[in-house]
Amino acid sequence: MPKAQLIDGKAIAQAIHQETAARVSVLKSRGIVPGLTFVRVGEDPASQSYVRMKGKKAQELGIKSETIVLPEKTSEAELLVLLAKLNADAGVHGILVQAPLPKHISETRIFSTVLPNKDVDGFHPVNVGKLLLGEPGGFKPCTPAGIHELLIRSKISTEGAHVVILGRGNIVGKPMAAILVQKAKNANATVTLLHSRSRDIAEHCRRADILIAAMGQAEFVKADMVKPGATVIDVGVNRVNDTADPRGYRLVGDIDFKAVSEVAGHVTPNPGGVGPMTIAMLMANTATAAEAAAEL
Ligand code: GUN
Repeated sequence: MPKAQLIDGKAIAQAIHQETAARVSVLKSRGIVPGLTFVRVGEDPASQSYVRMKGKKAQELGIKSETIVLPEKTSEAELLVLLAKLNADAGVHGILVQAPLPKHISETRIFSTVLPNKDVDGFHPVNVGKLLLGEPGGFKPCTPAGIHELLIRSKISTEGAHVVILGRGNIVGKPMAAILVQKAKNANATVTLLHSRSRDIAEHCRRADILIAAMGQAEFVKADMVKPGATVIDVGVNRVNDTADPRGYRLVGDIDFKAVSEVAGHVTPNPGGVGPMTIAMLMANTATAAEAAAEL
């Protein structure tokens, strides 16, 4: 019997979906159908699967979703023209351009073009700025916002806690630090942000009350990097070759789940931990965007 209690991301996401479905019903009763458009460029297999899952959930909740798939060779100018059209379309409340984009397209330029009030991903500089400043009213990136909800709904306090985040990416690590460091209810954490150039990584990790692994390295966090009783959140989705699997690969997280479960107090399963929460926050953000557009 592993010692750690599992944080059931699937169940918590389901509770959020029920709340979102109720909000969608209110919108529809007033003649507004929330609309979410996905834009995917190229054929990255992980992106295909993520967009498919998000689109399916949107439909289930009564959100009108459309996926626009563009070829890998699409120019930045073509993508900007498409975004201008979606920005101007009153039926589209949320726009999500799936990352990563092909190398010849600037993600910063693309994310800066989606109108901030349709930026349900929370990647526009205005929304990033609001998050950093602790200003209300912006969209927060879905994965860190989902992890925050997981902690809140599992009653794991961040107040004065030492949170160590592995990974400084713009999608998870940096916004996660910004959320938890705020002088605010359910935040007030002491945050250490580790990255590939950090020294003494294991030592920092062992001092964490809450350890969030988001650096994209298969099973990087070992049991001896975890303080007994700590909360460990696994954000990683890594493909590792596995000839025994019919797909030729299997998916593993950023933590050595089995060994870490013997030491941690709480741990997220993977799959079934952070992933469903990312989708739940995206749907909730879309409902928020539609409510704001309808001035509800
Ligand atoms: N790629 C990995 N995670 C995300 C996400 O949350 N949103 C988008 N748009 N792309 C991603």
